[in-house]
Amino acid sequence: MPFYQRLGELPRKRHIVARDNGRLLTEEVMGFEGFSGLESILYHLSSPCRVIELGEFEPIVREEWVPGTHAHRHLRTWDVPPAGDAVSGRQLLMWNGDVEISFARPTETMDYFFRNGEGDEVIFVHEGSGTLESVFGDLPYKPGDYLVVPRGTTYRFAPEGEQRYLVFETPGLITIPKRYRNEHGQLMEHAPYYHRDIHPPTELRTHRDRGEFVVKVRVRGGYQTYVIDYHPFDVVGWDGYVYPWTFSIHDFEPVTGRIHQPPPSHQTFAGPNFVICSFCPRKLDYDPEAVPIPYHHSNLQSEEMIYYVDGNFSSRKGIEVGSVTLHPSGLPHGPQPGLAEKSLGMTETHEYAVMCDTFNPLRLTTLAADLDDGKYMYSWAEDASSDGQAGVTSHL
Ligand SMILES: [Fe+2]
Repeated sequence: MPFYQRLGELPRKRHIVARDNGRLLTEEVMGFEGFSGLESILYHLSSPCRVIELGEFEPIVREEWVPGTHAHRHLRTWDVPPAGDAVSGRQLLMWNGDVEISFARPTETMDYFFRNGEGDEVIFVHEGSGTLESVFGDLPYKPGDYLVVPRGTTYRFAPEGEQRYLVFETPGLITIPKRYRNEHGQLMEHAPYYHRDIHPPTELRTHRDRGEFVVKVRVRGGYQTYVIDYHPFDVVGWDGYVYPWTFSIHDFEPVTGRIHQPPPSHQTFAGPNFVICSFCPRKLDYDPEAVPIPYHHSNLQSEEMIYYVDGNFSSRKGIEVGSVTLHPSGLPHGPQPGLAEKSLGMTETHEYAVMCDTFNPLRLTTLAADLDDGKYMYSWAEDASSDGQAGVTSHL
């Protein structure tokens, strides 16, 4: 999506005869917004429409938790038991009409191929490496990577080692914030990352196998299974602007200032009515009178989910790696008692976190209820001198 790419063998021009060993290839235009948005053109050995068996349709069932109280929440995900594979193992925490936020600790290997037919995905890899094998080629990933997968991409995870993900799925498009790009689409130098930080698929392997292959497609609020008689990664070449890519949180260049930089300075991706931000190690505000941690703020039109990835959260009461905090709309939040004072003179932070701010309210699942510590709302009422206020978290 961020720039033009091509892999494999392509004919001289679009929409002309292209053959592989004498066989006419099937050209597929995969694009957004009718034929006006970004698109890629793929050349298949077989028609991508070819299906030999329609399988089951499995509706997505969400178990909603409607809390009896409106409160800030703290969910601990670290010890959630592993389950399923990279798709079936997604355990929904919260959602609205714009985005679904899930947590996954997959242990099984996908014995099928998957395509999200109704949404873009961002998969933050907290733990584990491997390869996202896709119709566009192989995309290696490692801890700290965001895997950005446009809708319509057929893929399968080939994981190596223990895996832990935070997953965002949206019916809208995941984009790079407009203010980072010039009118031609190129990332400008004030952006927190550059084209070199964006990694498209590295290798296209054309599969010529025949047999029975299962493809599961998320569409119309469920998963439809199809059986096809050719390997779905039968592409001999493709080019365009639509493809999966990775960007590492470790390549995000934090913006720092003499006084506090507001949360939008951490924005990494944009979605419809939500943003995804990266909090990374950085120098803190350097004015002698600066208060290096954020102000209190009221998220009057947004809900704020933060997933804590790495850093020394142990000194701050309750927050640990794998914690999720949710600051819902309508309530102010900010540094806990004593933290602003304690932060004075601090020069740097070493924490990593991923934040999603949504502009519409989030609904919670029963899994969120199970993980909720039930105490976080009271953490602002504690005595600043108590043990629980010993640490500083820089992005409250
Ligand atoms: Fe906040």
